[in-house]
Amino acid sequence: MIAATDDADVNARVLAEADAQRTFCVRADLAREGTAVTPATAFVGGVQLGVLASGDHRRSAAVRSALAATLAGRTADEPAESDRSYAPKPVGVALVGGGPGDPDLITVRGRELLAQADVVVADRLAPARLLAELAPHVEVIDAAKVPYGRAMAQQAINEVLIDRARAGRFVVRLKGGDPYVFGRGYEEVEACVAAGVPVTVVPGVTSAFGAPCAAGIPVTHRGVTHEVVVVSGHVAPGHPDSLVDWNALGRLRGTVVVLMGVERLGAIAAALVAGGRPDDTPVAIVQNGTLAAQRVTSGTLATIAARAAAAEVRPPAIVVVGAVAGFALVGP
Ligand SMILES: C[S@@+](CC[C@H](N)C(=O)[O-])C[C@H]1O[C@@H](n2cnc3c(N)ncnc32)[C@H](O)[C@@H]1O
Repeated sequence: MIAATDDADVNARVLAEADAQRTFCVRADLAREGTAVTPATAFVGGVQLGVLASGDHRRSAAVRSALAATLAGRTADEPAESDRSYAPKPVGVALVGGGPGDPDLITVRGRELLAQADVVVADRLAPARLLAELAPHVEVIDAAKVPYGRAMAQQAINEVLIDRARAGRFVVRLKGGDPYVFGRGYEEVEACVAAGVPVTVVPGVTSAFGAPCAAGIPVTHRGVTHEVVVVSGHVAPGHPDSLVDWNALGRLRGTVVVLMGVERLGAIAAALVAGGRPDDTPVAIVQNGTLAAQRVTSGTLATIAARAAAAEVRPPAIVVVGAVAGFALVGP
């Protein structure tokens, strides 16, 4: 039992009650009075630390921070990776945005949750090197290889998440970029909620902004562009399934960032020009953004399709359209 109210009398009564029931009790306000103490903990690079200093919480925390700093190669007065002394093991499913590709670009929270996972269900574009750091007991499921046909794949993934979580295992669903940016993350949240499985979502650095940034392209710039629109190019302009108003985008003066568009680049460039965008508008394609294989191909709306074909640009790639696509003071 833990007595952790801000009223010392209540904590004392909880302790007495626990004592009467022969149950160990932690007193959060007066650790030495309790019949049990909790350790100061930290997660550093996949290692769980727990420190007890005979009920002296401040000392436990100080020793914990020093050990964590040593493990992480920091000085002790810098903030520790985790300062949550009582953090219990998470349950259910965590949808974690893994960032655009470089494993260092996942959030601290995402990495902590990954270190506690029993099961990791990973997308094709989730940073692969993060999987290599997992402990051997962790079950890693490649979402791209979940059985069933293409149409069934999402349902099959939802079922795996729910099945493992119901078996009492903590599941991290590791996605590329941000889970909600063209990532089907909300469908997985809906499935977990409908199944009564606790679910939490950790934002990630989306490739829509992370890849241009890594290539030295600012998606906005004062006095140049006051808008940036992120668009899916997974269906071509004019396709009956397309929900994008390409004519309206053609009238924009700002930045258009297209995901999943390289295979339809010619049609997309033509649609923007048909909508009114000048055909000398700069365009940059960032392939494998933030990774060692990152490559930038540049041109204009008139030339980019031919240049991309000549350079054999392949997914994953981000297409940036607008004046900022011609900027690149600092490169990768
Ligand atoms: C299904 S979407 C997922 C987007 C992801 N949720 C995000 O926020 O970045 C996949 C598309 O994201 C883009 N993408 C993802 N990672 C990328 C990278 N490292 N470099 C360039 N584009 C990337 C590509 O356009 C790719 O086709």
